[in-house]
Amino acid sequence: MDTKVIHHFPKPVDPNAPNIVAIKDLYKSFGDNHVLKGFDLNLRKGENLVVLGKSGSGKSVLIKCMVGLLYPEKGMVEVFDKNIPKLDRDELDHIRVKIGFLFQSSALYDSMTVRENLEFPLRRHWISKTRAEVDELVLEALENVGLKHAVDLMPSELSGGMRKRIGLARTLILKPDIILYDEPTTGLDPITSREISNLIVDIQHKYNTSSIIITHDMACAKIVSNRVIVLVNGIKFIEGTYDELEKSTDPQIKPFFE
Ligand SMILES: Nc1ncnc2c1ncn2[C@@H]1O[C@H](COP(=O)(O)OP(=O)(O)OP(=O)(O)O)[C@@H](O)[C@H]1O
Ligand SMILES: [Mg+2]
Repeated sequence: MDTKVIHHFPKPVDPNAPNIVAIKDLYKSFGDNHVLKGFDLNLRKGENLVVLGKSGSGKSVLIKCMVGLLYPEKGMVEVFDKNIPKLDRDELDHIRVKIGFLFQSSALYDSMTVRENLEFPLRRHWISKTRAEVDELVLEALENVGLKHAVDLMPSELSGGMRKRIGLARTLILKPDIILYDEPTTGLDPITSREISNLIVDIQHKYNTSSIIITHDMACAKIVSNRVIVLVNGIKFIEGTYDELEKSTDPQIKPFFE
């Protein structure tokens, strides 16, 4: 990777930082499948919050509720003091510009080059940009993930790790205040996973973003987190720093660290 990793620890959260996301008593079911059953979460400005949970526990459902891709039956999902489930389309669009969502499957458009993939979010939101400005933003985003040289490749020519990084570059191009990472390292080898984890920390330092990182990669959780919460049976089961949770003797928590 040709970017230098400078930051080895997440940026400390300002003790007076306000909440930027506040989720309270969130319920979401699919028929008889009750996934979220009174879930709570708060994300503070500038914080990297890791959400741990077993496969199928509802982590992706949770972040889809946060961007209005899924509607909860009950509860509050406040982002920048706006309750997401209550917003109309225009209001939601307005908020979504400020939220970057890195999908579990990098979700690149296979028929577009890397450059076109990165331009895509700009076209929708910043119609007034000149060609030169767009080019500059694309290259800056690629530089952040160390992949400037890949600008004219097709997604099929990228490795899994490169796809994740391009997905991240596309998320960064709108300079979001909040980034939601859904399994940023899944399917990658340990070295590439560590590079992506370091990149998440670099982005936090560089842009002071507030992020939720969904993962079951404990090495990633350790590198990126200011705080960790664990989703068990539809609720926030426990929260603390990585080091605190690592010492837990609770049978629901211990297996994550083994
Ligand atoms: N659109 C949907 N329609 C019906 N059921 C859904 C839908 N989305 C998710 N589910 C169900 O909700 C539950 C939680 O799914 P979710 O994708 O949030 O799990 P996860 O914690 O992200 O798991 P993984 O770690 O494997 O990604 C699963 O039982 C899943 O089948
Ligand atoms: Mg998931």
